[in-house]
Amino acid sequence: MGVQSVVLIGLSSVLVLVGLVVVQGGVHGGIPTTLDGPFEPVTVDVDDKFRGHAIDLPDTDPRVQRKVNGFEPEQISVSLSSTYDSVWISWITGEFQIGDNIKPLDPKSVKSVVRYGKSRFSLSRKAVGYSLIYNQLYPFEGLKNYTSGIIHHVRLRGLKPDTFYYYRCGDPSIPVTSKIYYFKTMPISSPRSYPNRIAVVGDLGLTYNTTSTISHLMSNYPDLVLLVGDVTYANLYLTNGTGSDCYSCSFAQTPIHETYQPRWDYWGR
Ligand SMILES: *[C@@H]1O[C@H](CO)[C@@H](O)[C@H](O)[C@H]1NC(C)=O
Ligand SMILES: *[C@@H]1O[C@H](CO)[C@@H](O)[C@H](O)[C@H]1NC(C)=O
Ligand SMILES: *[C@@H]1O[C@H](CO)[C@@H](O)[C@H](O)[C@H]1NC(C)=O
Ligand SMILES: [Fe+2]
Repeated sequence: MGVQSVVLIGLSSVLVLVGLVVVQGGVHGGIPTTLDGPFEPVTVDVDDKFRGHAIDLPDTDPRVQRKVNGFEPEQISVSLSSTYDSVWISWITGEFQIGDNIKPLDPKSVKSVVRYGKSRFSLSRKAVGYSLIYNQLYPFEGLKNYTSGIIHHVRLRGLKPDTFYYYRCGDPSIPVTSKIYYFKTMPISSPRSYPNRIAVVGDLGLTYNTTSTISHLMSNYPDLVLLVGDVTYANLYLTNGTGSDCYSCSFAQTPIHETYQPRWDYWGR
């Protein structure tokens, strides 16, 4: 029985969908594991018809616009910590600023709190984390400076393996908190216990094709997504928001290789 999986490979700044690889079923007719191997590595040629010109989403696309008000959490993400019993919840509050008269936000002005539990009706546990901001400052005439929203990180500990947890994050004292979201913890790691489906993806960009890539990925129900890098390509932009497929070709005269940091914020939305 063959199992189809989608392989995604990025080449330079263009995301390329390489094709469908048929993986032969293992001895039990299911998905082969490393325990069934070792297998001969299979290389699949790049299908050139997938080498397109990926166009960046513009600032006006609804997918990259800020939908929250005030200090409501946005750009919420869950990342794996060192073991199954711990994950990081991260989010942003407040608006970035870019321009001449930027005033950094005070990260202490908004708390970093996650309420969580095994039932969405009983978020009985609480974890508190920390927050920070960062600035991108250019000492050159004509370049704009950037200061980020407040970035929050909270580590949840003592979680059970292979278990759904529900959570909401924010600062309940303001009060500004997120909707309730959920995640599933990893299994206890051993030679016969590991996440069954791991998606590996990179060079995602923030293009009209990124959404379809993520949809493909999600329709394969991965237990874990490994994002190997290259996300927004903010470095293909000037600080005034003008972008190009090839920075050095288009902007040979800039005093420094600048970036347009708001594209980082867009990516998290
Ligand atoms: C950006 O920050 C740098 C370093 O503080 C400063 O020299 C520069 O004048 C600032 N630029 C603007 C446009 O405010
Ligand atoms: C990327 O998106 C564009 C615009 O939506 C579309 O025309 C093109 O077929 C997509 N490319 C791939 C490889 O899916
Ligand atoms: C940004 O700067 C570049 C280079 O100076 C210029 O060609 C472009 O018109 C500017 N774009 C905007 C929106 O100001
Ligand atoms: Fe890349």
